[in-house]
Amino acid sequence: MEIEITVNGKLEEEEVVSLYQSNGWSSAEKPKELMAALEGSHTVIAGRVDSKLVGLCNALSDGHLVVYYPHMLVHPNFHRKGVGRKMMEAMHSIYKEFHQQILIADGRAIDFYNSVGFSRAGKSEPMWIYQGNEH
Ligand SMILES: CC(C)(COP(=O)(O)OP(=O)(O)OC[C@H]1O[C@@H](n2cnc3c(N)ncnc32)[C@H](O)[C@@H]1OP(=O)(O)O)[C@@H](O)C(=O)NCCC(=O)NCCS
Repeated sequence: MEIEITVNGKLEEEEVVSLYQSNGWSSAEKPKELMAALEGSHTVIAGRVDSKLVGLCNALSDGHLVVYYPHMLVHPNFHRKGVGRKMMEAMHSIYKEFHQQILIADGRAIDFYNSVGFSRAGKSEPMWIYQGNEH
């Protein structure tokens, strides 16, 4: 299986919404806001197999020192095939010199993030103001 990675490439609303729906992420219900959020991101990386969008992740950044990774998702039919790892490697290649690369890991994604180089942030606790189950 060949995974094609694109950085800040063109994305159609329909394929993005379909990917988010496949993972049950509620931002699929706000397509305008979702597309605007991706448009406003510092970097968006897409993973494609046979041109089909199977993975997406984005980065928010000050452009110099700190980057935060809010979204990382892969279509369930393509889990454990290396799509997530390839997308995160592409992010690392852009942000490797930054002082901090930060994310909040969903409990089920911790093994994945550990395997791509992230570790628990010392004794810190993630904190947020959160609207229900929104992704
Ligand atoms: C988390 C997620 C993005 C991982 O993407 P993926 O393409 O399936 O991951 P990869 O195939 O690149 O996995 C790389 C490595 O991560 C680890 N890993 C990935 N998924 C794992 C799982 N479910 N359990 C244990 N280890 C896992 C493994 O070490 C794996 O390497 P291996 O397959 O050679 O053993 C994907 O499962 C997903 O989209 N989940 C739903 C959305 C989500 O939870 N996103 C994160 C929100 S914080």
